[in-house]
Amino acid sequence: MNTSIHSQWSSKLAFIFAATGSAVGLGNIWKFPYMTGEYGGGAFVIVYLLCVALMGLPIMMAEVMLGKRGRNSPINSMKILAAEAKQSQWWQLLGWSGVVAGILILSFYSVVAGWALAYVPKLATGEFLIINSMPLAEVQTFIDATFNSLVANPYNLIIWHTIFMSLTMLIILGGVQGGLERALTFMMPALFVLLLILVAYAMTTSNFMDGVHFMFDINFNNLLYPNCTATSCELSGDGILAAMGQAFFSLSLGMGAIMVYGAYLPDKTSIAQTTAIVVIADTLVAILAGLIIFAIVFSNGLEPGAGVSLVFKTLPIAFGQMPFGSLFGTLFFILLALAAWSSAISLIEPAVAWLIETKRFKRLGATLFLGILTWLLGLLTVFSFNIWSEINPLFMFPNFADKTFFDLIDYLTSSIMLPLGGLFMAIFVAWLMKKQIIEAELNGSSKHFGYRIWYFLLRYITPLGVGLVFLNAIGIFS
Ligand code: TRP
Repeated sequence: MNTSIHSQWSSKLAFIFAATGSAVGLGNIWKFPYMTGEYGGGAFVIVYLLCVALMGLPIMMAEVMLGKRGRNSPINSMKILAAEAKQSQWWQLLGWSGVVAGILILSFYSVVAGWALAYVPKLATGEFLIINSMPLAEVQTFIDATFNSLVANPYNLIIWHTIFMSLTMLIILGGVQGGLERALTFMMPALFVLLLILVAYAMTTSNFMDGVHFMFDINFNNLLYPNCTATSCELSGDGILAAMGQAFFSLSLGMGAIMVYGAYLPDKTSIAQTTAIVVIADTLVAILAGLIIFAIVFSNGLEPGAGVSLVFKTLPIAFGQMPFGSLFGTLFFILLALAAWSSAISLIEPAVAWLIETKRFKRLGATLFLGILTWLLGLLTVFSFNIWSEINPLFMFPNFADKTFFDLIDYLTSSIMLPLGGLFMAIFVAWLMKKQIIEAELNGSSKHFGYRIWYFLLRYITPLGVGLVFLNAIGIFS
């Protein structure tokens, strides 16, 4: 069955690059380290890894398969597949929630990618070289001031946000299979090599092993009591929910990004093998980023729980100190922005594909419309770091009382919409789709051992896991 108006990837490798391009991005290098830092290290990492293995991998296979079977935008794919499985047309809502989640995520993603862009000229001009001649305490003040003055200025942030959104729209205009394929084949390996260079540097820092211990020593107290003060400790499921949400976010799951890339997959490709490669690559990049950043944190007496600014306050120190630091630093932030770029594309492509299929939009119109909408929403994030930093829209709810617009959009998407999206995909595939169809799409047999594990995970473990984490987060078990 192939009734698609869309073109396809030129090869299996092209799909792997595109899906890895979607998965690897700010989530790995910016978000994973700072969340690990905020939730106290090892326990967060282990819950994250469990979620990746037990939910992420099976759901990614399911999501690719839905796309490959549906051959359309997530909304229309779900419509077709629901009809095929004789299920309610309400399943289209899954596609809809994905479109909304994608636009919401891209709105803050673009602003943060703008920060990475803003650091490119700072490194290229050697702004961080002077830390070599500073005592440690001054280094921290300097690094803090650099970041804080960037985000304090809304005009600056808007300019970089605009540049990033324009670049994203440019690729979307060309169709993701064209421009993107070529760019990614050199970009992903380059980013990986640069990370390895940074790991080598991190190993020479004085406290590399402290970082390793922080990331891999499992201490559940840090995760379960994130808000401990000297006088009170309150048990909270937030950390576990955050780890699960991060697994979905990092793997680009639960909103149709991977589904729409699956829709462009050539017929004969092995889904199991390609997704496994994507999941491994994504996880590896996150772990490497963590090792680098926590080595710098502990070697310079910085705070692991610094929050969203962590990567911007640690890596510049490394680039200030290491040989050829300005060169590597410039390259690094360019590559980070590029990695964000290839992720951003997958956040908006499902919506673009739907407008083209259903609303007779041309690519240009669809791209402009969605791009401008996302750009406007992005202003909420821009202002969350300066003029609206004190505005807490949900101040009347204790759990959300101190959250800014940015915090809320991040929470709503990562911790709620993506896991719910993944949950419903798992239910649809493992409970409602015909087994013959699944076998045909996976080019597999239900007798195969790997197939049976996958089916079991998807049918029982994923729904149970997502369900338990949600119940835990709303405080049922405490
Ligand atoms: N996975 C990307 C990252 O880690 C972000 C991303 C791209 C994403 N597409 C997505 C997240 C779809 C959720 C859903 O940076």
